This record gives sequence, structure tokens and C-alpha cells, in this order.
Amino acid sequence: MDLSEERQDEKVFSVFLLCLAIFTISFHPPVLAANTQKGAKVFSTNCAYCHAGDQNLVKANKSLKK
Ligand code: HEC
Repeated sequence: MDLSEERQDEKVFSVFLLCLAIFTISFHPPVLAANTQKGAKVFSTNCAYCHAGDQNLVKANKSLKK
């Protein structure tokens, strides 16, 4: 493989990473939280800034409290 082909591969890879990031952000985080052994840690790093204290800081009527 010559140099220009390698650069092409890098480009494809960064586009792939970008798509992955958009895909991840587009879906609501609970999908990622499913089946995790480290749920509490995942919650505090990924969820707490919108759901602090089981609230919903974005939409109050969508709190995590039943
Ligand atoms: C960017 C802010 C944000 C983050 C981060 C976030 N959520 Fe939410 N969550 C919301 C909003 C806004 C809603 C209400 C969506 C709607 O209108 O249906 C919601 C709804 C929910 C609901 C449904 C509540 C209901 O009464 O319908 C659950 C469960 C939930 N989120 C869990 C989580 C979990 C678990 C995480 C972390 C993995 C998380 N959320 C991360 C903003 C967020």
C-alpha cells in the first residue's frame, strides 16, 4: 500500500468514528445503560446531569420517580 492509500484509510476511519458518535448521541442513553454491571457509575457519569436526584432537569414531568 502506498502513502496516499494510507491517508485514504485514515479519512474513512474518521468518518466512521464521526458516524458512530452521531449514532450514539441520537439514541437516548438508557439503551446504553441496559445490562451494565456498573449501572451506578454509568448513571452518575451519563445520566445524572439531566436526572439528578431522580428528577428530570429537562422535562420535569418525565422524572425517574414512579
Ligand atoms: C441530555 C439530558 C439527558 C440525559 C443525559 C439522560 N436523559 Fe433520560 N430523559 C431526558 C429527557 C428530556 C427525557 C424525557 C423524554 C421524553 O420527553 O419522553 C428523559 C426520559 C428518561 C426516562 C423516561 C422517564 C419517563 O417518565 O418517561 C428514563 C427512564 C430515562 N430518561 C433514563 C435515563 C438514563 C438511565 C440515562 C443515562 C444512561 C439518561 N436518562 C440520560 C434527558 C436526559
